[in-house]
Amino acid sequence: RSRELKELIANGKPRQAPRFRSEEWFNRKDEYGLSLVYMDRYLNFGLTKEELMSGKPIIGIAQTGSDIAPCNRHHLILAQRVREGIRSAGGIPLEFPTHPIQESGRRPSPTLDRNLLYLALVEILHGYPLDGIVLLTGCDKTAPACLMAAASMNIPSICLNVGPMLNGWQNNSRIGTGTVMWKARELHAAGQIDTEGYIDMVTKGSPSVGHCNTMGTASTMNLLAEALGMALPGSAAIPAPYRERGQAAYTTGVQIVEMAHQDRKPSDIMTIGAFENAIAANTAIGGSSNAPIHLIAIARHLGVSLDLDDWDRIGYSLPLLANVMPAGEMLMEEFFRAGGLPAVIAELHHAGALPHPEALTCNGRTMGENAMKQGQSWDQMTIKRFEEPLKTEAGFLHVKGNLFDSAIMKTSVISSNFRKEFLENPDDPNAFECPVAVFDGPEDYNKRLEHAPITAHTILVMRGVGPLGYPGAAEVVNMHAPGHLLKKGVQDLPCIGDGRQSGTSGCPAILNATPEAADGGNLAILRDGDIVRIDLTKRSVNILLPDEEIQRRRDELESRGGYHGPPSRTPWQDLFRREVGGLSTGMVMKRAVQFHRIAQQELAP
Ligand code: FES
Ligand code: MG
Repeated sequence: RSRELKELIANGKPRQAPRFRSEEWFNRKDEYGLSLVYMDRYLNFGLTKEELMSGKPIIGIAQTGSDIAPCNRHHLILAQRVREGIRSAGGIPLEFPTHPIQESGRRPSPTLDRNLLYLALVEILHGYPLDGIVLLTGCDKTAPACLMAAASMNIPSICLNVGPMLNGWQNNSRIGTGTVMWKARELHAAGQIDTEGYIDMVTKGSPSVGHCNTMGTASTMNLLAEALGMALPGSAAIPAPYRERGQAAYTTGVQIVEMAHQDRKPSDIMTIGAFENAIAANTAIGGSSNAPIHLIAIARHLGVSLDLDDWDRIGYSLPLLANVMPAGEMLMEEFFRAGGLPAVIAELHHAGALPHPEALTCNGRTMGENAMKQGQSWDQMTIKRFEEPLKTEAGFLHVKGNLFDSAIMKTSVISSNFRKEFLENPDDPNAFECPVAVFDGPEDYNKRLEHAPITAHTILVMRGVGPLGYPGAAEVVNMHAPGHLLKKGVQDLPCIGDGRQSGTSGCPAILNATPEAADGGNLAILRDGDIVRIDLTKRSVNILLPDEEIQRRRDELESRGGYHGPPSRTPWQDLFRREVGGLSTGMVMKRAVQFHRIAQQELAP
């Protein structure tokens, strides 16, 4: 297109830029009058020439659901309502499949596929006649992958998530997906339930279609899409089977057509102010420790600068308002009934704690206007008042030291037991020193946990599980104590790791350590019994060894060839490892972040 425009300008025949980019496909002139190269096959399933040439916006629907992506499978039904919304607003829908990502089914790690879906979706948005896009999100990595692609391409985009599952129940208690897995494993390890009981308990957590019903990474990322302004206000928390979900699908379809006409793009919505709002919202909802990785990645694909210091600076001091597992007791059904994200945003806004109420959202109104219009907590058991939160100072700490340059700690899930045991020592408040037990990946942990030298005051370290080590960064830094300690009631041992933690886990952990062991990080030189000091006030984590000893161990490790993960098993694993950056900077493909706002650059002469 830019070549054509340059030619036209050089020939002194300026012309008006087409209204929609799809006109480049469907209204293209050639020597026969109209170029049919791109058009004729779009007619073969019944679309008419008039529809494609009418100047109506062509709206893509990025379908992430399928039989192998069951968390998002309900989108196969919802997409029909999205189409109807698009049609009724005067747009032409074109639905297409994306690379599937099922958190619970993809081996070795679903995170590998976030960047693959991203790359493939950019190619689709770039290479096909689309003027706007509805991103059908849900399971953990689908929302960030889709938003990263929308950020790079920068055509009008809106998210619709599939919605959380209904509550799970057992013996009149709520059973939350993911969170129940960690609980059931502990009960099984402590001998309190047998294998049948374990299976029964875990599967009761998933009673309907939809994504995880806890405040895991899926609920978090879809709520943060809304907090960024990229989903309709109030839409993210609607449970998948509720009628409101189908209605939101329809309204989302209507909205994207308006956005296409207004040319309201991701870069207009996802400004630095929007990211700061999302960080504040993440603390208030008790969001997943995967959120910083994904939000930083989305920001980088827009060319917006965002780092972990921003997370600590904006998010740490804010309170936790959402009483939802794993930080609280309820599930997403209650959260929806309590008012969902608008109620949380309204609480922040009333308290003057919403950093940018003026941030624009997909519906053309500001975040503050949306919150004032809809927001109110209807159930203050589930969404607390800002003045009476579940916890104060509930955001992420950005910690550093001689073991890594950067890692985070999610403070909203630190239990009162853990605080008493480790942090409330009057001589050394908020800090502790403990020996470590070191595991090289989950297989080693499962094999050695019961026999490793672990007491009620041991730090568990999981290394070799970062983006290069595993590969893709495994979600395994949620370790529990060995059975003999669980039986004595010792549950919360501190964990450190260069991998990620499931958003549904409540274990007190220092995560996403960068650089990882397989990338020259000093977790690689740790040995069982080394003493590590963690000081949360100083934001520091250090191995108590002189620098010379650290260097000696490094040299020794390098002389043995360094620290490596298993070999790559597929072409993509290999390509991913060659190109990927660390978790603290978003785990993006290093060369991909050079491409920003692709559509606009193409339109420039
Ligand atoms: Fe898909 Fe939790 S496993 S949302
Ligand atoms: Mg997960």
